[in-house]
Amino acid sequence: MRLKDKVALITGGANGIGLATAQRFAKEGAKIILWDVTDKGQQVVNDLISDGAKALFQKVSVADQDAVIKAVAVAKNHFGRIDILINNAGITKDRTLLKMSKQEWDDVISVNLTGVFNCTQAVVPIMKEQNYGRIVSASSNVAIRGNYGQTNYVATKSAIIGMTKVWALELGRFGITANCIAPGFIQTAMTDAMPEEVRKQSLAHIPVGKWGVPDDIANGYLYLASDEASFVSGICLTIDGGAAR
Ligand SMILES: NC(=O)c1ccc[n+]([C@@H]2O[C@H](COP(=O)([O-])OP(=O)(O)OC[C@H]3O[C@@H](n4cnc5c(N)ncnc54)[C@H](O)[C@@H]3O)[C@@H](O)[C@H]2O)c1
Repeated sequence: MRLKDKVALITGGANGIGLATAQRFAKEGAKIILWDVTDKGQQVVNDLISDGAKALFQKVSVADQDAVIKAVAVAKNHFGRIDILINNAGITKDRTLLKMSKQEWDDVISVNLTGVFNCTQAVVPIMKEQNYGRIVSASSNVAIRGNYGQTNYVATKSAIIGMTKVWALELGRFGITANCIAPGFIQTAMTDAMPEEVRKQSLAHIPVGKWGVPDDIANGYLYLASDEASFVSGICLTIDGGAAR
C-alpha cells in the first residue's frame, strides 16, 4: 500500500476526479477527509467506510475561509494529523472576455484560486508541525495553451502553477512538497456540460486519440502524494494524452 496510514484531505471529492481519487487513496491505505458542497459526499464516505476505509465527510466550501479553518481543526482532531492535501475542487463559468460578467469572474476566482489559498494556508501549519506534507493541486492544460471562453478559469489554473512553485520554495525545509497536475480533457460532469460539437473537436487534438478518465488523474495525484515523489517539488505534471503544445 502506497499511502498506508496517511491522512488525505481531498476537496471536491463527491464527483469526478475527486471521487476517483478518494476511492484510489482509500485502497492504498489512506484515511480520507472528503470535502464538498454537495451532500453526495456523505454517501461517498459511507461507501468508503463500508469497504473498510476510515473516512470523514465535511460539507465545506473551499471559498469560505472561516469554514475551511474550522473544518481543518475538526479533521485534525478526528484523525490526529493531515499528511496530504489534494486541492481538487474547481468550477467553470465560461464566457468570452467581452461577455463575461464580474460575477462570473469572481465566482471562479473565489473557488478555484482563493479556495486553494484558503485550504493550503489552513493545512500547512499542521504539516509544518509534523515536518511532513504533500500538497497537490489541480491546474489544467489550458493554463499552458489557453482556451476559448475561459478567461476566468485559465487565470486560476495558471495561478496554481505559480503558487505551487512559491510553496515548493517556502515549504521544502519543513518536509513539505508542493506540486500540481494539469489534466487535459477528462470525462466528468465538468466536460459533460460542454457542447457536443466542442467535445468532438477536442478529440482531434489529443494525439493518443481518446479522452481521459478520472483514474488517469487519480494516478497522478497518487504518485505526487506518495513517498515515491519525495524528491519532486514545484512541478506541474501534464496528463492530457499529448494535447498541450
Ligand atoms: N474534467 C476535466 O477535463 C478537467 C480538466 C482540467 C482540470 N480539471 C480540474 O480538475 C478538478 C476536478 O474536476 P472534475 O472534472 O472532477 O469536476 P466535477 O465538476 O466533476 O467535480 C468537482 C467537484 O467539486 C465540487 N465543488 C465545487 N465547488 C466547490 C466548493 N466551493 N468547495 C468544495 N467543493 C466544491 C463539486 O460539487 C464537485 O463535486 C477541477 O479543479 C477542475 O478544474 C478538470
